[in-house]
Amino acid sequence: MSTPNNGVLSSGAPSKVTLSLGHLPSKKDIKAPWPRTPTRVDPNNPPWPAYRGYHEYSFAHATMQSRLPTILGKAIEDATRTLNDQSSEEYVVDLLACIERMGELMTDLSGNAKLRPLIDDGEADVALWNKEIAKYFQGKDFMNAPWLFAEAYKYRRLHECFCTSKFWRDYDVFYRQKCDTFSRSSDAVFELSMRFAEPFKLSDNLSPEEKLEAERLMFLELTQVCLWGNSTDLSLLINMTEEQIKALQSTGGDHLAATEKNILGNHLPALWKTVKELRDKTGGRIDFVLDNAGFELYCDCVYADFLLQSGLATQIHFHGKRYPWFVSDVTRKDWEWLLNSMVYGQLFPKATDQELESLRRLGRRWKQYVKEKKWVYEQHPFWCTGYTYWNLHAEAPDLFLHLSRSDLVFFKGDLNHRKLTYDCAAPASTPFDVAIGPMASSAGAPKIVSLRTIKSDVVVGLGAEGDETAEKLDETEPGWKISGKYAVVLLSEGRPGEKVRFA
Ligand code: F6P
Ligand code: MG
Repeated sequence: MSTPNNGVLSSGAPSKVTLSLGHLPSKKDIKAPWPRTPTRVDPNNPPWPAYRGYHEYSFAHATMQSRLPTILGKAIEDATRTLNDQSSEEYVVDLLACIERMGELMTDLSGNAKLRPLIDDGEADVALWNKEIAKYFQGKDFMNAPWLFAEAYKYRRLHECFCTSKFWRDYDVFYRQKCDTFSRSSDAVFELSMRFAEPFKLSDNLSPEEKLEAERLMFLELTQVCLWGNSTDLSLLINMTEEQIKALQSTGGDHLAATEKNILGNHLPALWKTVKELRDKTGGRIDFVLDNAGFELYCDCVYADFLLQSGLATQIHFHGKRYPWFVSDVTRKDWEWLLNSMVYGQLFPKATDQELESLRRLGRRWKQYVKEKKWVYEQHPFWCTGYTYWNLHAEAPDLFLHLSRSDLVFFKGDLNHRKLTYDCAAPASTPFDVAIGPMASSAGAPKIVSLRTIKSDVVVGLGAEGDETAEKLDETEPGWKISGKYAVVLLSEGRPGEKVRFA
């Protein structure tokens, strides 16, 4: 048998053949066909290129590499603080095991481990998670899986640390922080409660046209209150001072007029037309897919209260998360905490008696709405999965059917927007209806509005000139996509009234 020697076989033939292609036509700059055709789209292959943690210098990278370990580190500190307050040995030992599991998660995250299936910890979403991992993410790690999935997976693994325990299944490592944002938002909280403590009433001296105009203006201002309430999410505000938070939360009229300029994709006029038509049809059901607890939830409730009082809606459904999610998202406990603290809490020692009374009245009215089922709080398991909303129709048909009965569904915040748009590099000029795919095109899709301050890479719905707008901002304000300074208010056409069909 002949032995290779210095890359040359004993016969004299080279071990590796390199052909010279100098006489063939030169390579063409072939553009990949974006968006992918729908049959080639799946969670690992979004319609436009996915953001992934290994893209250095991206926000995805900064999040996976630094922000998530920092958030997890603070979560461990929180659980340790709770541990030190315990007296029962059973409880201490059980919590210690949770903290050890968090340590293992930290090792996996910082060591960029492969994404393993979830342990069956009794949660309703285990099957959904493990199906997605098995079908699309086998062998993927935290950095090379799409950013959205990897980030969501981290929060699910964090929940697993507690969900496999005996006494700490419902423990929320972010609860202290969430409660804190509300108590640190006193100026903005009372600014709104002093105006809305009493049900609003338009002067009887106004003509019907003047009344409608007054309502329109109120609607536009409150939609903005609800929108900008999203700029203060805890995962990004870890290092902000109280003064900086106050500046972000300012709700004064002039401030709002000025901030409308920062709404880069602005469907506010169409939104007003939609809700007005709803009232003409005797009012309907409006849904809020909630984002953050504390101050943002408070703004959502002020807005929902106005929608009810003005007859623009007759019932509101609020959708929250089943467990701690992306630091600041609303769980049932946060929802109840807000309403009860408004009525019974002692959170604002410096407030005047009038201010405190205004908050109590508002809280009592909201609790009454809950009793009368005018406000309904829900928490479907699908909201805490790694799936985007392109998969909602297929993976959670019951939820899709439920939403299809709504007249208008508000999706609050950045993460919901990422999930609506598959969190991929779609051009900024992409129309919202195209970017949200089946959530606009499936039979029975409700009208959807995304109220989102821009805090991550995906940006769509900026109109025909959108690509130029985005390019200009890239040049002049490099951090514009993560600062929360800009926003979008985007409305889909929907296909309400069409019979919902499932494959
Ligand atoms: O970690 C990044 C992120 O997921 C971004 O989408 C956003 O900046 C933040 O966390 C969550 O924002 P929101 O609470 O508005 O969904
Ligand atoms: Mg959030």
